[in-house]
Amino acid sequence: MNHSHILYFDNNFDYPVMVKGKGIYLYDEEGKEYIDGCAGAVSNSLGFGRKDMAEVIAGQAEKLSFVHRHYVSADVNHQAADALKEAFPYMDRFFLVSGGTEATEAATKLARLHFYHKGQVKKTKIISRWMSYHGYTLDALSYGGNPGRRKEFTPVLREDGHIMPPYCYRCWLSKDCKSCSLECADALEDMILMNGPENVAGFIFEPVSGTTLGCVTPPEGYFQKIRDICIKYDILMIVDEVMCGAGRTGTMSALEKERVVPDIMALAKSIGGGYFPVGAVACTGEVAQPVIARGMFPVGHTWSGNPLASVVIKKTLSIIKEENLLQNVKEMGEHLRGRLMALQEKFACIGDVRGVGLMQGIEFVKSRKTKEYFDPELDFAGTVSRNCMEMGLIVMPCHGMDKGRGGDAIMLGTNFEVNKEEIDRIVHIFEKAIEKTVSGNR
Ligand SMILES: Cc1ncc(COP(=O)(O)O)c(C=O)c1O
Repeated sequence: MNHSHILYFDNNFDYPVMVKGKGIYLYDEEGKEYIDGCAGAVSNSLGFGRKDMAEVIAGQAEKLSFVHRHYVSADVNHQAADALKEAFPYMDRFFLVSGGTEATEAATKLARLHFYHKGQVKKTKIISRWMSYHGYTLDALSYGGNPGRRKEFTPVLREDGHIMPPYCYRCWLSKDCKSCSLECADALEDMILMNGPENVAGFIFEPVSGTTLGCVTPPEGYFQKIRDICIKYDILMIVDEVMCGAGRTGTMSALEKERVVPDIMALAKSIGGGYFPVGAVACTGEVAQPVIARGMFPVGHTWSGNPLASVVIKKTLSIIKEENLLQNVKEMGEHLRGRLMALQEKFACIGDVRGVGLMQGIEFVKSRKTKEYFDPELDFAGTVSRNCMEMGLIVMPCHGMDKGRGGDAIMLGTNFEVNKEEIDRIVHIFEKAIEKTVSGNR
C-alpha cells in the first residue's frame, strides 16, 4: 500500500496500518494482532466492532445525516441532550460539538459570554494550570500548560496565568501528603488576586491529568477548595473531563467523589464510544441563563450538533448504563492497579503508579530514592512503548512531567468492556517490554 500522501504525526515512524478491530483488539494489514491498551487516545469507552453501534450510525445516516444548527434542529440532538442530562443530572444545558478541543474552547467562550451578558465585560481571563492539556488549537494551547506542545507556538499564545498542578509525586512546593494543606489549590487565589477578580472569568483544569502528567489525581479536598475559591471571587469553575469523564474513573464525573459540582464541563472522547467525533459543553442553568436571555450563543462549527454524533452519544450512554460498565471500570481498574503495583515491586525503575479506574499512569525513574528521571535523550517511555508495540500492545507514552525538562511515564486505559484475562495479558506484555527496555539500557 502507498502511504506517501499522508502527513503523519511522526513522519520518521513506520506506522502499522490497521484494517480491523474487535473488542480490545486491532489487526493490521499483515494480520498481526495488537491489544489496544490505551483505547485509542484514552478515548474509546466501547470495544471495536460493535454491531449495535454500526447499526445506529447506518440507520441515522439513512434517516438524517446533517442539519445546521443556525436554521434547524434534529430530534436526535434533543435525545442526546436528554441522555447527557440523565448522565449528568446537575448540569442543565448541553452544547454539542465534534471533539475535545472544541469543547474546551466553547467552555471558555461560554464563561466569557456569561459575564459579558451580565455587563461584567472585563471578566475575560481564563486561569489554568501548568502541566495540563486542553487541546491543540492556539487558544487551547494558551490555557493549556504542556511545555512540549506549546513550545513552537509560544510567540502567538496568550498568557492569562497558570498555576502549579497538584502533582504530589513531584510536589512543586516540596511538601508531602502529610504536611500539605493543599497550597497548590491556594495558588489559584493568589493568581486571581494578581489579575484582579474583576478581570477573571474562569479557571479550567483536568480533575485527573491526561498525557501531560500521566494520570495524576489531586489529594482529597482539592476539588472542594478550588470550588470554594471560585465561589469566593465569582469565577466559573470549568472542568475538563474530555479524557477522564463519562465513566473512565468509574463515575460519570471525576468530581463526584468529592460531590463537587462545576459550573461548566467539557466532555468528548468516552461519550462517543470511539465511533464518531463527538463532544459537548455542559453547564448549569445559572451559567446558561444570561446567554439564553440574550438569545445568541455564537460558538461552534459546521459539524457542531450533527445528528450522527448525537445518535452515537445517545447509544453510547445507554450502553454504559445498560451494560453496567461503570462497575466494570471500577473492578477492572482495581485489578489493573493491583497488577501494576506488583510490577513496581519487581522493577526499581517504576517510581510511581497512580490514577483511578481505567486511567492508570506508571512513572519511570532512574533512581527511586532521588526520583531522578532518565536522560530525555534515552526516550525511556518511548522505548517501552515501541517494545510494547513490537510485542502486540499499544500504550501511550508521556514525557517531560518534571516541568517539561524530563520524566517518562506510560498511560494505560482500555475500553470499559475489558475483562480480567485481557488486563492480565496487557500487564504481561508490559512487563516483558519493561524488561527489554531495562536490559537495553544496562
Ligand atoms: C483533557 C483533554 N482535553 C482536551 C483534549 C483535546 O481533545 P481532542 O483531541 O478531541 O480535540 C484532550 C485530548 O487528549 C484531553 O485529554
